[in-house]
Amino acid sequence: MKADEVKSVGIVGGGTMGSGIAQTCATAGLQVVLVDLALEQLTKAQGAINASLAKLQAKQQLPADSATIAGRIRTSTNVEDLRGVDLAIEAAFEDPAVKEDLFRKLDQACKADTVLTSNTSSISITRLAAATKRSERVAGMHFMNPVPLMPLVEVVRGLQTSDETIGFVKGVAERLGKTPIESRDVPGFISNRVLMPLINEAFFALEERVGTAEDIDTVMRLGMNHPMGPLALADLIGLDVCLAVLQVLQRDLGEDKYRPAPLLRSYVAAGWLGRKNGRGVYSYD
Ligand SMILES: NC(=O)c1ccc[n+]([C@@H]2O[C@H](COP(=O)([O-])OP(=O)(O)OC[C@H]3O[C@@H](n4cnc5c(N)ncnc54)[C@H](O)[C@@H]3O)[C@@H](O)[C@H]2O)c1
Repeated sequence: MKADEVKSVGIVGGGTMGSGIAQTCATAGLQVVLVDLALEQLTKAQGAINASLAKLQAKQQLPADSATIAGRIRTSTNVEDLRGVDLAIEAAFEDPAVKEDLFRKLDQACKADTVLTSNTSSISITRLAAATKRSERVAGMHFMNPVPLMPLVEVVRGLQTSDETIGFVKGVAERLGKTPIESRDVPGFISNRVLMPLINEAFFALEERVGTAEDIDTVMRLGMNHPMGPLALADLIGLDVCLAVLQVLQRDLGEDKYRPAPLLRSYVAAGWLGRKNGRGVYSYD
């Protein structure tokens, strides 16, 4: 199948990323089946999507009425409901066992020629592909948060991913209005390999009282022209997510330069996870 023939997309995981991906696909005119473990999660996802669409509609940034777009998204608690989709995008928990299990289920549920992708930030695509019988049709499709607004998709080539699959995934990303780039399947890909050491160093600097959190972020915003400081960005991503990615980089690349800052560890231990629960480096009401 060619990217411009895709009509439907199945998404597994209706959290921060899955709901954003569902919204983006529906906005581009695709039919979406969004799967999560519990109905309650799906209701939350629909609420988040409706709120985001309403904001975009108010700014006249939607190609169609928000109700028409939302109406393209069907929800389900059963992965088997993805049997008819033209592309699957997995965005469940960042846990290798969860994702391997899902890839086995997707491989059984989806049509034989359907490309299976993962939005993972750090787990090996080659490893997920090995849980299927279609490793040449498995790739990474790494969206950035918040998905409807961020124009990049990192397309990750596993050991056995075919050129055709890479071309197909890039083509779909373009249909979603995104710019795809290609990364090799190494821990952190390009984005987190470069971003996470920056965030980690900001935590070390905060811990050593080189400056306040506000001043560290201001240096990067006004001095380096970053739209957002690294500590505020860490709060947006989730401090638990940052810690988990750094642990993967340190373990899998075998280099101490990725050692997570003790301050980052203790914030996560305290339950300060960032914007999502109201407290991270900064407080959110
Ligand atoms: N948050 C980010 O900034 C960001 C950015 C890029 C990539 N990612 C990646 O995207 C993925 C999802 O991250 P998130 O932040 O949306 O997480 P999240 O915790 O907000 O959402 C995950 C969702 O997956 C669901 N889920 C878990 N196991 C499932 C299963 N077996 N079947 C169906 N649903 C299941 C959960 O109920 C939850 O709703 C992760 O792999 C993460 O590394 C996250």
